Amino acid sequence: LSLHSASFLSSGSKLSNCPPDIGAEVAFAGRSNAGKSSAINTLTQQKKLARTSKTPGRTQLINFFGLNKPDSKLVDLPGYGYAKVATQVKEDWQRHLDDYLRNRQALQGLVLVMDIRTPLTEFDQMMLNWCDLSSLPVLVLLTKADKFKYGAAKNIQLKVKKELSDIKCVKDIVLFSSLKRTGVPEASKQIIEWLSV
Ligand code: GTP
Ligand code: MG
Repeated sequence: LSLHSASFLSSGSKLSNCPPDIGAEVAFAGRSNAGKSSAINTLTQQKKLARTSKTPGRTQLINFFGLNKPDSKLVDLPGYGYAKVATQVKEDWQRHLDDYLRNRQALQGLVLVMDIRTPLTEFDQMMLNWCDLSSLPVLVLLTKADKFKYGAAKNIQLKVKKELSDIKCVKDIVLFSSLKRTGVPEASKQIIEWLSV
């Protein structure tokens, strides 16, 4: 099983038009513009697999990418918390996201992507609490780590680790950069472990 084998499978706005709920998948969630789609491209070593954008709210559909093991998938979820999107659209996404997280049997783990400059937003906390209650394991990526010098990034990582020390679903908190490929081995290892059930 290699993440580099990823290829586009399908995309849909609701659970009913997602691929069959079999096998194993790992989903990427996080605030709009945090860097979810970029992280998927970096981990799969493909420049244009998941569509990225400077404009928050780019990914409005649940996108599925297939891997070289039958029914293994990576999932790019729409970002949450983007203020400029119309309320109706926001409510729809929230509902689909909720529905997906609650009901998806294939989901083995969640990669929660946070911009290292604004970690642990209210939404992130909600997501973590929800995962904890549902016993869904989480890998936290503190992405855009290239925005800080190494020491400063390490300090933020320590702070976040301390704040999340009581949340059992959190497996690891990794410094990540799609620009510099920081954290790729650690993140890949966890994702592959989740997909190897
Ligand atoms: P939505 O789909 O809107 O929810 O956003 P997203 O979380 O998928 O973010 P996306 O990957 O599209 O990235 C948003 C912006 O952040 C883009 O301009 C990226 O180039 C930039 N970006 C993503 N990762 C990094 C990183 O590691 N370092 C730096 N410097 N910029 C990054
Ligand atoms: Mg995206």
